[in-house]
Amino acid sequence: MITPKAQFLHGPLAAVNEQIRPTVDLIFTSPPYKRSDGYELRLGQGLGRFAQRVLVPGGQLYVNFGQLLEELPRAFRFADEVEIGAQDQAHRMAAAELGQVDTSTESRRKVKQTQLVWGQTIAWVKSIATPSWRETLLETVTAAKKAGASTVSVKTLLDLLKGESRMTTRGHVTTLTSDRVLNYDWEPIFRYWKPPEPTLDRLSIGVPYTDKSNANRGTRGKNGDLRCRGDAWFVPYQTTGATTKKASAKTKHAYAFPEELVSMVLKFSNLRPGAHVLDPFCGSGTVGVVAKRMGYHFTGIDSDASAIETSREAWETA
Ligand SMILES: C[S@@+](CC[C@H](N)C(=O)[O-])C[C@H]1O[C@@H](n2cnc3c(N)ncnc32)[C@H](O)[C@@H]1O
Repeated sequence: MITPKAQFLHGPLAAVNEQIRPTVDLIFTSPPYKRSDGYELRLGQGLGRFAQRVLVPGGQLYVNFGQLLEELPRAFRFADEVEIGAQDQAHRMAAAELGQVDTSTESRRKVKQTQLVWGQTIAWVKSIATPSWRETLLETVTAAKKAGASTVSVKTLLDLLKGESRMTTRGHVTTLTSDRVLNYDWEPIFRYWKPPEPTLDRLSIGVPYTDKSNANRGTRGKNGDLRCRGDAWFVPYQTTGATTKKASAKTKHAYAFPEELVSMVLKFSNLRPGAHVLDPFCGSGTVGVVAKRMGYHFTGIDSDASAIETSREAWETA
């Protein structure tokens, strides 16, 4: 069993960059995304260049930006550093329309093996409103019971299921008072890799089939009752407090990743035992904590000395 080791570096990424050797298997990070928190274009480009240099062949980069109107084009602005992934036609077309990259076949052939490739974007859903049949049924049956009924007919239940159900909201986000935009319920997590393209362990975060007859069809039988969960991941914060800029008491940090989100990324990335995981904007050190529990080495970087202290403490007690 490997004993995971960690190093924590205090300083802006641009200043400590050169201390990192090119041995990194995976970077998962959430850079500051508002200008008021220190975002600037050079920060994103610097991250792209840094990842390109320090990732091993087959290494992966996951970048989460909080949801903003300018969010999606931002990923294309890595374009100086990043080649658009061949797997995704929509990304190539959008990049070409924005005039950010030359996506011609000619230029694609010239992709250097050291360049990063942009793959799939994961939607991290923090809050969602869904129909809730359970609540609707519970309400009807409870009302019937109160009115003295000892049974509810199958017909009543079927009629209910055909009708309107109540909506339930799951998860938390900061509520906006705006007549211009809806609340931001999801954030993108952009995924890049350095060739050769790594394979994913999709079923490590798989979910059970709803229609159980699907589980045994075709080649699926070999996986039992488990299917790919897809690219929209519902991972709620545990409390409303975590969605605000105010640091939560537990993490001592604003905008901390939920541990479950980090664990999903690390699991399905299919890392080798003892892999090297890095977060160059580590905040409260959530990526480190989860990496340690999974037996991975970790490097944390942050420009804020107190964030480095928090991350180190979190690692030591994980
Ligand atoms: C959104 S937070 C990361 C939160 C983290 N994912 C967690 O789970 O706690 C962004 C972090 O980037 C740090 N930061 C801002 N500019 C930086 C820079 N140029 N280099 C390194 N860290 C920076 C901030 O101090 C902050 O802790």
